[in-house]
Amino acid sequence: MTTPESAVYPPSEDIVKNAHVNAAKYDEMYAQSIENPEKFWAEQAERIDWIKPFTKVKNVSYDFGNVDIKWFEDGQLNVAANCIDRHLETRGDQTAIIWEPDDPSDEAKHISYKELHLRTCRMANILESMGVGKGDRVVIYLPMIPEAAYAMLACARIGAIHSIVFAGFSPDALAARINGCDAKVVITADEAPRGGRKTPLKSNADAALLHCKESVKCLVVRRTGGQTTWIDGRDHDYNEMALEANDYCKPAAMDAEDPLFILYTSGSTGQPKGVVHTTGGYLTYAALTHEVTFDYHDGDIYWCTADVGWVTGHSYIVYGPLANGATTLMFEGVPTYPDAGRFWAVCEKHKVNQFYTAPTAIRALMGQGTEFVEKYDLSDLKLLGTVGEPINPEAWNWYNDVVGKGKCPIVDTWWQTETGGHLMTPLPGAHATKPGAAMKPFFGVEPVVLDPQSGAEIDGNGVEGVLCIKDSWPGQMRTVWGDHERFEKTYFSDYKGYYFTGDGCRRDADGDYWITGRVDDVINVSGHRMGTAEVESALVAHAAVAEAAVVGYPHEIKGQGIYCYVTLMNDREPSDELLKELRQWVRTEIGPIASPDVIQWAPGLPKTRSGKIMRRILRKIAENDFGSLGDTSTLADPSVVDDLISNRANKG
Ligand code: WTA
Repeated sequence: MTTPESAVYPPSEDIVKNAHVNAAKYDEMYAQSIENPEKFWAEQAERIDWIKPFTKVKNVSYDFGNVDIKWFEDGQLNVAANCIDRHLETRGDQTAIIWEPDDPSDEAKHISYKELHLRTCRMANILESMGVGKGDRVVIYLPMIPEAAYAMLACARIGAIHSIVFAGFSPDALAARINGCDAKVVITADEAPRGGRKTPLKSNADAALLHCKESVKCLVVRRTGGQTTWIDGRDHDYNEMALEANDYCKPAAMDAEDPLFILYTSGSTGQPKGVVHTTGGYLTYAALTHEVTFDYHDGDIYWCTADVGWVTGHSYIVYGPLANGATTLMFEGVPTYPDAGRFWAVCEKHKVNQFYTAPTAIRALMGQGTEFVEKYDLSDLKLLGTVGEPINPEAWNWYNDVVGKGKCPIVDTWWQTETGGHLMTPLPGAHATKPGAAMKPFFGVEPVVLDPQSGAEIDGNGVEGVLCIKDSWPGQMRTVWGDHERFEKTYFSDYKGYYFTGDGCRRDADGDYWITGRVDDVINVSGHRMGTAEVESALVAHAAVAEAAVVGYPHEIKGQGIYCYVTLMNDREPSDELLKELRQWVRTEIGPIASPDVIQWAPGLPKTRSGKIMRRILRKIAENDFGSLGDTSTLADPSVVDDLISNRANKG
């Protein structure tokens, strides 16, 4: 492992000269943002068009039992009007969205701000005609097609709250989310092409809707023209309705604290929780971070490879870039189709300036050799970014040397679904970068390193602990949908008075931050966040399984893999068929992204005398690290551990 101080890459003079924020400006702005957040954020919020200006900037309580977070609370605005209408006069014909389809031989689309306005208004009118109004929930289950952006913005326009479900989730997971937020409408497509294969989204939605209220309606976008079953009255044809829909829909005046969207994400316990983001603070924060972190300038072509099903797609494909009047690229496909050069082919084709992706993709492509990159002209690239998981120095160096040719700063952006936008990242014109470090807090963010046991702040440099944030920033989540108590308990109860991130971190000798990974039972598989508890509950729902414990283990490409210890019912015997069946079972229950990498049969699990599973031991065994199992004498039956070690699955 490279030591933190071993490699430092200062920004080039050229970059510093042209950047929105250089080192002196960062220091000045950061100091202001901490010393006088009210003034700082009132100024920053001027980048947004307000229907009714706010007079109160910040009203926040982190007191456990009374956590309450409000920004710009008496202001009113509309997010869609900020992302579209206000650009029409100056950049109506400029491309807002470049859409690159899964199949490179299909034609890319260039959607201007004018067209985006038209499509969004029509979609908004369609939703209204289906009975959707202010505050109603709409679930979006779509491929990466422009209609996904229209749908998000249409909801925002009429004040409906969207909840996007990643198209890789199963019907069961979709149903849980539709029911979780009591959605009125689900927007889906016939099929989702990805990597040359098609996922039958409409049939998945049909299967999900069997478990939902009969009143839930379905709006279906035609993507492939593939056959779908149709239920009259419930199913609505988007393409037909768009022909008839009115071209204008008035944007609703929304309170700054009205919810904009719900996004389900995994926690360390139980089922996924609905993270709620609101309107004014979220948009201000997404727009500011997009401009500053990526050093976005007018006319740049910006590409974030995420899916709109994740928070990265919300903040950095749609809301941040469009609020800034940017040109944002939306990619339907995968990095390895038709071959491992696809990302770079798209960069060349559309002259991409800023490119933002996940370490797992970089690791996968790195293994395919440099010739896939070298074939393409990447001279338009100015900046590279990563998100979602720690990046290992090898992948960082490859990204820097082979893709960036040593001339593009790499912003390693650390943040979470809960944070709405970047909380720590180097800024390209202000900071040196170090392979694997998230480096510096963003404006208004005050990270603290706490002792995990005592909860005391650890001062100074060269220290490590759990990462908490003092005070609030405008993009912060406000609550868990329908369960404010869970919100408080998850983020504000372990370390009172702080927002607890669930991550560990190190502040190195220079005072720069390194994220060391989750300290809870959340794992990060190919940049996708997963709760081990979710996989466990999927496994125990199978009739053959008596008990299951799931942990993460280091995986060369995925970052972390899913390692499952499974205890079978007395009358069941382990077999390869059952193993395959369980793997398929989890894919059906949650989705392919939760597919177990390793299943080890476990006649018993290590438990304390009070019955608590000792996950620490299971993690060590999964990591093949038997030397540091710690004290096993408190276990009810210490021999279980020997058995697990001697039978450790010889895989992964
Ligand atoms: C991890 C994705 C290291 C972290 C935006 C966090 C990272 C979780 C980084 C949130 C990074 C995200 N370096 N770790 N640059 N970015 N993480 O909610 O563990 O899907 O808590 O949000 O991903 O994942 P989520």
